[in-house]
Amino acid sequence: MDSFKVSGPTKLSGTIEVEGSKNSALPIMAASLLYNGKVVLNNIPRLKDINSMISLLESMGALTQFENNSLSIDNSGLNSFRADYNLVRKMRASFIVLGGLLARKGRAEVSLPGGCAIGQRPVDIHIKSFEALGIQTNIKEGYVYAQTSDINSNEEQRVELEFPSVGATENLMIFAAGRNQTTIINNAAKEPEIVDLANFLEKLGAKVSGAGTAFISIKGFDASKESPSETVFNHDVIFDRIVAGTYAIAGIITESHITVKNVNHDHLKAFYNVLEQIGVNFILKDNEIEILPNNILSSLNPVNLTTLPFPGFPTDLQAQIMILLTQIKGKSKIFETIFENRFMHVPEYTRLGAVIEATSQSASIAGPAKLKAAPVMCTDLRASAGLVLGAMVAEGETMINRVYHLDRGYEEMEKKLKKAGLKIERVKE
Ligand code: EPZ
Repeated sequence: MDSFKVSGPTKLSGTIEVEGSKNSALPIMAASLLYNGKVVLNNIPRLKDINSMISLLESMGALTQFENNSLSIDNSGLNSFRADYNLVRKMRASFIVLGGLLARKGRAEVSLPGGCAIGQRPVDIHIKSFEALGIQTNIKEGYVYAQTSDINSNEEQRVELEFPSVGATENLMIFAAGRNQTTIINNAAKEPEIVDLANFLEKLGAKVSGAGTAFISIKGFDASKESPSETVFNHDVIFDRIVAGTYAIAGIITESHITVKNVNHDHLKAFYNVLEQIGVNFILKDNEIEILPNNILSSLNPVNLTTLPFPGFPTDLQAQIMILLTQIKGKSKIFETIFENRFMHVPEYTRLGAVIEATSQSASIAGPAKLKAAPVMCTDLRASAGLVLGAMVAEGETMINRVYHLDRGYEEMEKKLKKAGLKIERVKE
């Protein structure tokens, strides 16, 4: 497995461009299953997770072509309703193909994804919600077998999620868009990726209202009809708000003057709010965040923050903000409410010299800590980004092992950071 060698401390400069959103691209790719023809998706990041979803769709008969961040998917040859364990286990988001397969084929066999480093991450909310919509489900030998006999009854259907799960909302939205009736999802997730998915489903022919609120109504079309279509649908995926936040923190933690480009400010309000509380000097321009050169870490303030579903502070920026807080004078506190095991990076940050006390759901960060290079290990995607940020301020050469996690979610991170002035090198296994 590849590693990164990063030399610090360092200053960055210039503009860093954010890529398209992985977490928007994946459900939209899964939603392409609804369409008996070709879709072209633009602004797709070149990442391992995207390749995993491509392999899964191809295993079920899709034809794909991926060039210059543009991905075409033709699902007119869809010949399977089974998502195999060997493909699903590589990436949890694969489970979202369930809704599309059910709508298109009337049945689906999808492997359970299993747990992962940041928590157990069950799919019980997905399954209960499909059952509430009248789908028969059966779990056997690690697979969910799901079947519907009345895809196109005309009655309005309602489902209420016990928690606004992003993945469950997406799975249900895709299913609802592919059946010729109205479905109402209550207590839905409100993330920007949900709105992007809704926009794509509308292009395919569904009528979606309320995406971005807790109450989504979808009037779908009959995806099970096999009439081939000549129309090619195009969609530009939104930019990645988590990548934007990560690079903004890179500017702050190195006390640098940088601009992060391709940012939708509406997606990052809770993040900006925390930066303001800390006292960071930044300016928001059209689609850019400019981190001003006058940020002195020793003059910033500690903060207490809680990760929450959107529009709250995103759990996917928790590891990155934590490493910044290690450099700020005073005691900061982070409460993680989305995942039950998302402080795996704490022991790795401690290896760099951070002073953090963590329980399963809260972490107390004492700053400023003088960070020094040490060999460290990536535990999950965002924790890996946090380690790169830590290595930027740590004195010496930090070896970050197992960066394949980063390749799952950040497009060419080392190239972008190198261009901005970081001494970073990929060491091939
Ligand atoms: C999405 O995961 C993202 N992944 C995650 O990003 C992100 O951290 C998460 O949403 C929260 O924002 C993608 O979009 C591909 P959830 P998802 O269902 O959909 C529990 C990253 O780094 N839960 O909202 O899996 C679950 O265990 C990743 O890019 C159940 O208990 O998140 C978790 O504790 C990591 N039962 C919480 O809800 C269920 O059936 C939130 O999960 C479903 C979820």
